[in-house]
Amino acid sequence: MDILNNVSLRKYNTFGIDVKALFFASITKPEQLQEVLNGKEVRSLPYLILGGGSNILFTESVEKLVLKADIQGIKQELIDNERILVTAGAGENWDSFVQYCVNQNWGGLENLSLIPGTVGASPIQNIGAYGTEIKDVFSHLEALDMSDFSIKRFTLPECRFGYRDSVFKNELKNRYLIISVSFLLSTHPKPNLSYPALKNELVNSGSNITIREVADTVSRIRRNKLPDPMQIGNAGSFFKNPVINVTHFNELQEKHPDLPSYPNGNDRVKLPAAWLIDKCGWKGRRIGDAGVHTKQALVLVNYGNASGKEILELSQRIKESVFNRFNIHLDTEVNII
Ligand code: FAD
Ligand code: EPU
Repeated sequence: MDILNNVSLRKYNTFGIDVKALFFASITKPEQLQEVLNGKEVRSLPYLILGGGSNILFTESVEKLVLKADIQGIKQELIDNERILVTAGAGENWDSFVQYCVNQNWGGLENLSLIPGTVGASPIQNIGAYGTEIKDVFSHLEALDMSDFSIKRFTLPECRFGYRDSVFKNELKNRYLIISVSFLLSTHPKPNLSYPALKNELVNSGSNITIREVADTVSRIRRNKLPDPMQIGNAGSFFKNPVINVTHFNELQEKHPDLPSYPNGNDRVKLPAAWLIDKCGWKGRRIGDAGVHTKQALVLVNYGNASGKEILELSQRIKESVFNRFNIHLDTEVNII
């Protein structure tokens, strides 16, 4: 097992931040974890689990052992006439996995096309887009307990999925390395067109819309508004969309009749953080190499050589603006290290 020393993480995070990791190891089989963690140099060090680095902002050098979850493999088991259980290794690229399922005509993940990152990270924040979250088709996952290397299976309720949230971001933060995730997909898929922007794009496609058309349409919409991390560093939405109470919403709507909103149950309303940030005049602004994307105000970008600290400072200024103008606190979606 190779444990590398003093490794640049630039190519391991989609913001393209150039920081060093003190130690770095790629885990391709679950059995390797114990061997790596018992290594003489790293035994007493803290660790950081890394997937594709597409939801992380490094603000300083990582004086830890970085464990890159690189376990590969896809397998499937037909459950009955309608359902197939598909299991993928944590290190599989998320979008390649989704396209593989769509090509087999296994439905359920197509609305999550083109999200960067790995299968293993998908449960951490219950990734979501265009009317689907992984919780909708999640069956279970297997994870290594970092304290005793035993393997634990987590069922759907045990993951406590919420909007961009799970037990792995809360009570069990840093406790488990996810090794595989299993999804229950449909062998007779029905497209999910509940998201208005997706439905509008497919309005002229007739009644027999395939999941391949859904996947391609989602990918096209995403390419049109989100920056490609290979061209401009970013980690997707920097903040979560805030949820406020109805009284606060009514006050805001009186002043801003054009404020978009989505009902969120129990007298709560979800607002697009992008709109709030845009209204504060941040869209397209740039401070050095740190900026706010020109087409999507919720996406912070690195135009080349911004440091993680510069991007974090920009995010703090944005938070202050939104708070001062709308009395709304934005929570960060990206993991700040
Ligand atoms: P990383 O960034 O490497 O890690 C994220 C977190 O998960 C870290 O806390 C890490 O420690 C932990 N982690 C990673 N792998 C494991 C593992 N195997 N076991 C335990 N912990 C682990 N997200 C959405 O939900 N919806 C979107 O539409 C979306 N669009 C995006 C668009 C762009 C252009 C970009 C750059 C990002 C977007 N994201 C979106 C965010 C990101 O793609 C997802 O959060 C993705 O799941 C992160 O995967 P990753 O492998 O890169 O995780
Ligand atoms: N808007 C603006 N200005 C902008 C951009 C958007 O005012 O610059 C307004 C528009 O009114 C638009 C609304 O904001 O209708 C929502 O914008 P969009 O449809 O782009 O979605 P979002 O709420 O910004 C969320 C997710 C994305 C996900 C898309 C599609 C969060 C934090 N973000 O973005 O997820 O891909 O919906 O489902 O929930 C991510 O998590 O990294 C991510 C990219």
